[in-house]
Amino acid sequence: MISKKKVNKIEIYYFSGSGNSLKVARDLAEKLKGKLISVASVMNRERITTDADIIGFVFPLYDFKPPLTIMDVVPKFKKIDTKYIFAVCTYGLAPSHSLKHLNKIIQSCGGCLSAGFAVRMPHNGIGSIKNNDKKNQSMYEAWKNKLETISSYIKAGKTGRIEASSPVFSFLNPRALKRLPSAIKFIMHLLLKGIKSLDFTSDEKCNGCGICEKICQAKNITMVDNKPKWAKNCLGCFACLHWCPKQAISLGGYNMDIAFYHHPDVKLSDMVR
Ligand SMILES: Cc1cc2nc3c(=O)[nH]c(=O)nc-3n(C[C@H](O)[C@H](O)[C@H](O)COP(=O)(O)O)c2cc1C
Repeated sequence: MISKKKVNKIEIYYFSGSGNSLKVARDLAEKLKGKLISVASVMNRERITTDADIIGFVFPLYDFKPPLTIMDVVPKFKKIDTKYIFAVCTYGLAPSHSLKHLNKIIQSCGGCLSAGFAVRMPHNGIGSIKNNDKKNQSMYEAWKNKLETISSYIKAGKTGRIEASSPVFSFLNPRALKRLPSAIKFIMHLLLKGIKSLDFTSDEKCNGCGICEKICQAKNITMVDNKPKWAKNCLGCFACLHWCPKQAISLGGYNMDIAFYHHPDVKLSDMVR
C-alpha cells in the first residue's frame, strides 16, 4: 500500500487509439515520476507481476465502459489487493459509470480502485465530425489544471474519489440527439456482432503505406496486395482510421460522422513504439 516514508514505485498502464489517453498517461508519468507502460505490451501475458506500489490505468471510454482490453488485463495483475490503484478514463461525451465498473472488476480480484478520474478530451468516435479546434483547445487547457489535481491527490495517497456521471446526459443536447440514429446502429452492430468484428475498409486513397498495420495494437491488420485486410480481433480503438495519412479508412457500410483526429502532442512514433 502507499507509503509516505519510502519512495513509492509507480507504473502507469495506458491504452489509446487517437492519443488522448497516451497524452494524459504521459503527463501523469512525468509528474509522478512513474513508468509508462503500454497495455498492448502486457495484454497477452497470462499473469502480470510487478513490484510497483502504485498502479495507474489510463484508457478511453468505449460505449459507457472501459475497453475490453482493460477489463481483460486488470485481473491478470498479481497481488492487486496490496496496491494503491488509480484510473483515469478519457471520454468524449460523458464518463458514465465506467470507473465504478472498473472498481467492481478490481474488487472481484480482492483489491479496490483507490481513486478514479474522468478527463474530457476530443471525441474520436461516432459523431466526432462536430469537433472544432476552439473546443478541443479548451479541453487541452482544462487537462493542464486537472493534471495538478490528480497528481496531488495521488501523491497524498488519498482515496475514495471515483468520478462518474449519468450516460443519459451524453444525449441530452440537440447535437448529440442528431447522432442518435447512427449511435443506435453502431450499438446494434456491437451487440449483434461484437466489437472484434468492426468492418473497417480502405478506399482508393490508400497508398499501401502500411501505417495501419504497424499501429494496430491487436495485430489485426495485415497488408495483402498493398491494401489493409482486417481480421476479427479488433480492439475498437479506431487507431487505424485516425492515423491513416491519406484518410482512406472508414467503418464500412456506416455513415458514422467520424472526424479524423489525433492528439496534437502525440506523434505516430509514440503510438507505434
Ligand atoms: C468505439 C468508441 C466508443 C466510444 N464510446 C464513448 C462513450 O460511450 N462515451 C463517451 O463519452 N465517449 C466515447 N468515445 C470517445 C472516446 O472515449 C474519447 O474520444 C477518448 O478520449 C479517446 O481516447 P484515445 O485518443 O486515447 O483513444 C468512444 C470512442 C470510440 C472509438
